[in-house]
Amino acid sequence: MSATVLDGKSLAQEIRAEIADQVAEFTRKGGAVPCLAAVLVGEDPGSQVYVRNKEKACKKAGMRSLLHLLPTETTTGELLDLVARLNADRSVHGILVQLPLPRQIDETRVLDAVDPLKDVDAFHPENVGRIVQGRPRYLPCTPHGIRELLLRNRIPVAGQNVTVIGRSDIVGKPMAIMLMQRSEGANATVTVCHSRTKDLPAVTRQADILVVAIGKPKFVTAGMVKPGAVVIDVGINRTNQGLVGDVDFESVKEVAGQITPVPGGVGPLTIAMLLHNTLAAARLQAGGA
Ligand code: GUN
Repeated sequence: MSATVLDGKSLAQEIRAEIADQVAEFTRKGGAVPCLAAVLVGEDPGSQVYVRNKEKACKKAGMRSLLHLLPTETTTGELLDLVARLNADRSVHGILVQLPLPRQIDETRVLDAVDPLKDVDAFHPENVGRIVQGRPRYLPCTPHGIRELLLRNRIPVAGQNVTVIGRSDIVGKPMAIMLMQRSEGANATVTVCHSRTKDLPAVTRQADILVVAIGKPKFVTAGMVKPGAVVIDVGINRTNQGLVGDVDFESVKEVAGQITPVPGGVGPLTIAMLLHNTLAAARLQAGGA
């Protein structure tokens, strides 16, 4: 039997409509129009698409969006100067530095320089530390989107075996930490797999929920999936066959119980949660909770 396809696109629209209502109410009560400043260094085509989509989504939700485009040869110092200006600008509530950055830039220094209150990606060590301790200020957008997808589709997580493939700072690591917390939509038994994992298929076949974030096209095949499992595909790989995920959708959908497509799965939710965090940032900077 074929898996149910989890429609991230329509769920993201629903969440974005909710956020637009909340923005309208916040500003009606005298709150500043939430403003996201996105910074893109260089000409990576994928990043250009993401950043433009983020800009459009902000505007549709009634927020302001500023886009800073810097040349590929920008230095760490120049980028730090821009971040300092955005930190000091009281009309800017969220700062997003699009990754990856060109090689010459010290990414850690730049991300550490973002004011933690404006860090809508939740990449700053203070925000990561808060997540680990179970008292998050912001949740990183992709894992946050996956959490909403699981919650709103009423997919049980507590006590389930969740396996995360990939240990990136953006997705795998925070996803694993969030799912093991004592909190709503969490309390899972979490396993993290990576390039050094022994007998990966034996591990992934234990998973009731499999989150795949390794950036390898069609890496997960049917034989790696427990029958009836929920499969969440975070991959966005540009190939000759177009955009494909990290999961071999055609074969895995015959084994899984529920599966996210690419495109139209996790991607749109990431943007929705960025809007959520930008509104949360505007509230926090207005002195609210
Ligand atoms: N590049 C890929 N994903 C992300 C993300 O979530 N945030 C930023 N800033 N850059 C990214």
